[in-house]
Amino acid sequence: VNEPLVLGIETSCDETGVGIVRGHTLLADAVASSVDEHARFGGVVPEVASRAHLEAMVPTIERACDTAGIALRDVDAIAVTNGPGLAGALLVGVASAKALALGLGKPLYGVNHLASHVAVDQLEHGPLPEPCLALLVSGGHSSLLRVEDVTVGVAPMGETIDDAAGEAFDKVARLLGLPFPGGPHIDRIAREGSSVYIDFPRGLTARRDVERHRFDFSFSGLKTAVARWVEARERAGEPVPVADVAASFQEAVCDVLVRKALDAASSEGIDHLLIGGGVAANSRLRQLAEERAEKLGIRVRVPRPGLCTDNGAMVAALGAEMVARGRTPSSLDLPADSSLPV
Ligand code: KG4
Ligand code: ZN
Repeated sequence: VNEPLVLGIETSCDETGVGIVRGHTLLADAVASSVDEHARFGGVVPEVASRAHLEAMVPTIERACDTAGIALRDVDAIAVTNGPGLAGALLVGVASAKALALGLGKPLYGVNHLASHVAVDQLEHGPLPEPCLALLVSGGHSSLLRVEDVTVGVAPMGETIDDAAGEAFDKVARLLGLPFPGGPHIDRIAREGSSVYIDFPRGLTARRDVERHRFDFSFSGLKTAVARWVEARERAGEPVPVADVAASFQEAVCDVLVRKALDAASSEGIDHLLIGGGVAANSRLRQLAEERAEKLGIRVRVPRPGLCTDNGAMVAALGAEMVARGRTPSSLDLPADSSLPV
């Protein structure tokens, strides 16, 4: 059997990603990030991201082909993220993918960004267990999704009602004087702190909230609680125990994420939990999920950190699966849709 050779393009946020896969085998994963250009603003600036994608696109495609040892004309299909994400950023990827598909005479597959965060796991752990429950946590989203067939879509069970988990990490990191993006820095510093030093609030876990928001998340109250705690220390002229604050904050986030994800899986009778998105790289999140899931007989799958953050390989992975399952290709008027439903 000849497995499909697929090139995937990802430009939904600040990474220009071009990945090449053959079936479930990863051949290349080239990523150019504009994260440094956004750092001084403390967050991603859409206009800066679009321009960076435009500059990085052709060199990143060339780099991916070189790494994979293929010529562009060898690919069987082009896959591209067409939403959700930043409108201008998505447009660059979609326009590039259409040009490639048209020029090469190959089919085009528009893929959903969230579904591709799920599909990427098969590059590392083999065929996706379906149905599975996916916890997607990044700077842009925090969602609990039920995945029946990843090539058809992902059904949202819950999501954040305010900040995304990664956003909370980034904001709290900023408050603690750590560089952007703050998630990896909090993860590192938290190892030297105590996770029970401060009992920060667990959003939407009170009985009255659970009635309406059983599988939803809220992190803005937590962020405010951290800010107040730090301010109080500073006002008192006392030093801020950065490692302890980081560890206690991280514990509050991970506790809620894992608790709700496992509750969702159990309630659906699903015995596989997949964690994806940039925050899935968090060491405490992985540890807590594995510990608690084991007690419930739920298997946890987390792709390696490099595949969790936005990349082109995840788009290629989902594209290859669409080809393998005989899905209809997109037409060349595929829109970039910033609010694409999941
Ligand atoms: O998936 P991603 O690369 O881009 C988005 O779609 O947002 O995720 C980036 C987010 C950032 O908020 C970053 O701080 C967070 O993932 N992140 C982490 C860790 N590594 C990245 N958060 C917590 N712990 C980490 N180790
Ligand atoms: Zn993402």
